[in-house]
Amino acid sequence: MRLTVIGTGYLGATHAACMAELGHEVLGVDVDADKIAALAAGRTPFHEPGLEEMLRRNLDSGRLRFTTSYEEAGAFGEVHFVCVGTPQSPRSDAADLRYVDAAFAGIARHAAPGALLVGKSTVPVGTARRLADAYDAEVAWNPEFLREGFAVRDTLRPDRLVFGVESERAGTLLREVYAPVLAAGTPVVTADFPTAELVKTAANAFLATKISFINAMAEVCEAAGGDVAVLAEAIGHDDRIGPKFLRAGVGFGGGCLPKDIRAFAHRAAELGAPLGFLREVDAINMRRRDRVVELARELCGRPDGSVMGARVAVLGAAFKPDSDDIRDSPALNVAARLQLDGADVTVYDPQAMDNARKAFPLLGYALSAEDALRRADVVLHLTEWAEFRALDPRQARQWVSRPCVVDGRGVLDAAAWAAAGWSFRALGRSAPGGEGKR
Ligand code: UDX
Repeated sequence: MRLTVIGTGYLGATHAACMAELGHEVLGVDVDADKIAALAAGRTPFHEPGLEEMLRRNLDSGRLRFTTSYEEAGAFGEVHFVCVGTPQSPRSDAADLRYVDAAFAGIARHAAPGALLVGKSTVPVGTARRLADAYDAEVAWNPEFLREGFAVRDTLRPDRLVFGVESERAGTLLREVYAPVLAAGTPVVTADFPTAELVKTAANAFLATKISFINAMAEVCEAAGGDVAVLAEAIGHDDRIGPKFLRAGVGFGGGCLPKDIRAFAHRAAELGAPLGFLREVDAINMRRRDRVVELARELCGRPDGSVMGARVAVLGAAFKPDSDDIRDSPALNVAARLQLDGADVTVYDPQAMDNARKAFPLLGYALSAEDALRRADVVLHLTEWAEFRALDPRQARQWVSRPCVVDGRGVLDAAAWAAAGWSFRALGRSAPGGEGKR
C-alpha cells in the first residue's frame, strides 16, 4: 500500500520505517527540513536500538522516502498516519493540540478523495470526533503503545492493535496495512472513537499508577523499616498483580507518562468525570525526587543540612536506561535542584550527554562514570544503565572522596557496596540500623 506518516519524531520515524519493513511504500512527512534531511540520509535524531539499520535498509530498497510537502503526501498516499507530538500546554495540564490540528489541516487539504486519515498521536478523548466533523475525509484512530528502547519491536510485534473506526471500509484498510502483524496472531480490538482514544490514556494512567503505588509502599517501608524490593517481589508473585512496572525508585519521567496523566486528569475533569487519584499518582512520583535530594543532604552529613559546595556525582541523565531521552528526567531534575542549592554537581550518562548539556548547560559533565565519581562526596545512582549496575564498589571506593551512595533505582547490590565500605542508602528501605525514621 502507499502510506504517509506525518510527523517524524520518535513515533513517526519508527512507524514509517516499520511500515516500509512490512513491505509498504512509505512517505515520511515533517515540517522540520533538517529532520527530514537527516532521516533521508539514514540518520535518526535519537537513540533507538535497531531503528537506524531498518531506516537505511528501507531507504536503500526505495520503499521509504521523506518530504516536507503536504501536497506530495496528499498525491502519494491512500492511508495517512498522523504521528505528531501532543506535549503539555505551556499554561495548563491540558495537551497542546496545535501540531495535531496543523497536521490534519495540512493533509486534509491535499488528500485524494477516499483517503483515510489515521490519528496515532495521544489525544484527549473527543479529538477524533472533532477532526472527523471538521474535514471532508474519513478519519480513524489507531493509538500506539510503543516504549522507547523497544520501539521497533513494539511496532512490529505489538501486544494488541486498537482500531477506532466508524465504517467497515476504514477497518478493512487498517487490516490491510497491518496484515503481516495480524498474521502473526496480534489481537485487534475494534472500538468507537472515544474508546480508542481512551485506551491509550487509560493504559498509561494504569502504568503510572502501578509505579506510584509501589513508590507509595516505598514511603511506608522507609517509615516502618521495611524493604520495598522484597515487598514488590512478594506481591508480584500474585499473577493478578504481576512483577512488571513494580520497581520502586526515583519514579517515572519521559515524554509520555507524566504529561499524559496530567492531560487525562484535565480532560476527565472537563467532562465532569474527575480522576482525582491521578493527581496523587503525580504527587507521589514527584515526592520521590524530593526524597533523593533529602537523602543526598543526609549523606553530606552537615549539621545544618546544607549541600553548599558538596561534590555530588549523578549517574544517569536519561529518564530510563537504553535511551538518550531526557524529557522530564528524574535524574536531571534532582541534579538541577542540588545545584541550585549550591552543590557542585557532575553528571554522567552513557547516551544522553548531548541532550543533557543542551537542556542543563550549567551542570557539570564528566566523560565516564569514573570521571564523575572522582573526589565525589555523594554518589546518586538515578538511571539504571547496565554500566552502572556493573560498577565494582571496591574500585569505585578508590575514586570518591567520601564513600556515600544513594541507589535511586533499587538495583545496586546493597550488601556488596556496604562490604566495600560505602554508606549505602536506597529508596524504599530505612537507614541501616533500622530506626525506621524517614
Ligand atoms: C511509556 C509506556 O510504557 C508506553 O506504552 C507508551 O506508549 C509511552 O509511555 P516510555 O515513556 O518509553 O513508555 O517508558 P517506560 O518504559 O514505560 O518507562 C516510563 C518511566 O517509568 C521511566 O522513567 C522508568 O524508569 C519508570 N519506571 C518504569 C519505574 O520507575 N518503575 C518501573 O517499574 C517501570
